[in-house]
Amino acid sequence: MKKIAILVSGKGSNMQYILQAIQNRILSGFRVNLVISDRCCSAIQYALKKNITAISLEKTDKKFISRKINNILVKDIPYIIVLAGFLSILDAEFCEKWFGKVINIHPSLLPKYGGKGMYGMNVHQAVIKNKEKISGATVHYVTKDVDAGDIILKKSCKISSKETPMSLSQKVSLIEREILIQSIKNL
Ligand code: GRF
Repeated sequence: MKKIAILVSGKGSNMQYILQAIQNRILSGFRVNLVISDRCCSAIQYALKKNITAISLEKTDKKFISRKINNILVKDIPYIIVLAGFLSILDAEFCEKWFGKVINIHPSLLPKYGGKGMYGMNVHQAVIKNKEKISGATVHYVTKDVDAGDIILKKSCKISSKETPMSLSQKVSLIEREILIQSIKNL
């Protein structure tokens, strides 16, 4: 079984999709062995209910949190590390050490609407404000530069004239689910 470690900061909706895909055998040969958060969040409660080792850390500076996460990961090296709504930035040392193993799901068509501050609803609000005709989601490798690593998969959706940031986030969330599972399969 290939072990997946998931890093979260919020609800962990993409974490839940991964767990469902494993349970439904859409994603076979994988198991989630560890969930780590950088703050108190409901994703941790969810993981604990599913009997997954879940560790909640405190949000600190990137060097400190990167070291802490590294120290946990080295005890049971995962096949892949998925950032699923993880809001802390990992430092260069961490990204280099785990290069090629860490992937992130981002709710836009990168390189557009990526980088510091571009997460969650901020992305969808900016996309609507700029009257874009399409948006989507991207799965990419994680490097020290935020949202700038090589792209693994990207999929777009049309934006209707009546689109709101909320309706767009729901559309994009469906795409995230699809390309995240596909990316893990392909790795
Ligand atoms: C999604 O927008 C995803 O693209 C991003 O985190 C969001 C979901 O996080 N990386 P959560 O379900 O609120 O934890």
